[in-house]
Amino acid sequence: MTTEKSGTFGIGGDLPVTRMGFGAMRLTGELVWGPPEDEAEARRILRRAVELGVNLIDTADVYGPEHNERIIREALHPYPEDLVIATKGGLLRAGRGTRENLMISHDAGEAHIREAVEGSLHRLGIERIDLYQLHRIDPEVPVEDTMGVFRALREEGKIRHVGLSEVSVAEIERARSVVEIATVQNHYNLADRSYEDVLAYCEEHGIGFMPFYPLNAGALAVDATATAIAERLGATKAQVALAWLLARSANMLLIPGTGSIDHLEENIGASALALSSEDFAALDAAGQKPG
Ligand SMILES: NC(=O)c1ccc[n+]([C@@H]2O[C@H](COP(=O)([O-])OP(=O)(O)OC[C@H]3O[C@@H](n4cnc5c(N)ncnc54)[C@H](OP(=O)(O)O)[C@@H]3O)[C@@H](O)[C@H]2O)c1
Repeated sequence: MTTEKSGTFGIGGDLPVTRMGFGAMRLTGELVWGPPEDEAEARRILRRAVELGVNLIDTADVYGPEHNERIIREALHPYPEDLVIATKGGLLRAGRGTRENLMISHDAGEAHIREAVEGSLHRLGIERIDLYQLHRIDPEVPVEDTMGVFRALREEGKIRHVGLSEVSVAEIERARSVVEIATVQNHYNLADRSYEDVLAYCEEHGIGFMPFYPLNAGALAVDATATAIAERLGATKAQVALAWLLARSANMLLIPGTGSIDHLEENIGASALALSSEDFAALDAAGQKPG
């Protein structure tokens, strides 16, 4: 059971990663605030992911805040040579908040982005961030201005590749007018396909697409179809949802998240799950039905 069969993708054309990665956000406290309840277990999950071939780990300074990046360093530093840690900046968290109000604000101005990059470099214990993503476009700062800062940081050698998160095609085009965009991380899964146009744009322009909430198939119309296919293939519904994403596009980079070793191993097991064209089409059709 390894990530190998998920295939590889070259981020920015020159940074190869295995397409089955890991999203570390769940390795924090409740509501993504504070450290995880069991830090030793969180470190064990990260080490197991790498042991099974994961070489793309997604995090952000706002996860914890800061605890998530710290734990990645504690678990994995000195890092394997091929490990890509993708982090993000541009959001701030004022407190734990509630499910309805997570107390998140934007700041993608130069001063904050520079400070955020220095903080991530320090916490992760690296000299350059392989993939630095703008967590959200700041409504107060034109994306061109923020991308100008990212471009400067790239020229200064602090970041290698630039990514965006939760963006439209028009926003990607504006960002790309300033700096090369290597990846886009948007909400997307079998049952939520609102960003099909962004995925198509990414495919056309060689941009990696990292769907967040990849397992959020939930109790929608897709459920019965996924369950039936999973049973027939001797797999699980989560594996079928992930295998569908891998088959959906060669540009798809998966970062499923979990706080459980069993789920981690199950998710990585999806790397080798081949769906027939009939099963792929049935899932595709079910996912497009309103839930
Ligand atoms: N760019 C953004 O704005 C943004 C937003 C959200 C997330 N993200 C990134 O995307 C990554 C993935 O998102 P996510 O973790 O929220 O969503 P996800 O991967 O779709 O789902 C994670 C949830 O599914 C459960 N789960 C995981 N594997 C499972 C399995 N095999 N069977 C049943 N349940 C399973 C997890 O619970 P257990 O812990 O019990 O397994 C957890 O509750 C995050 O880690 C983060 O890096 C980015």
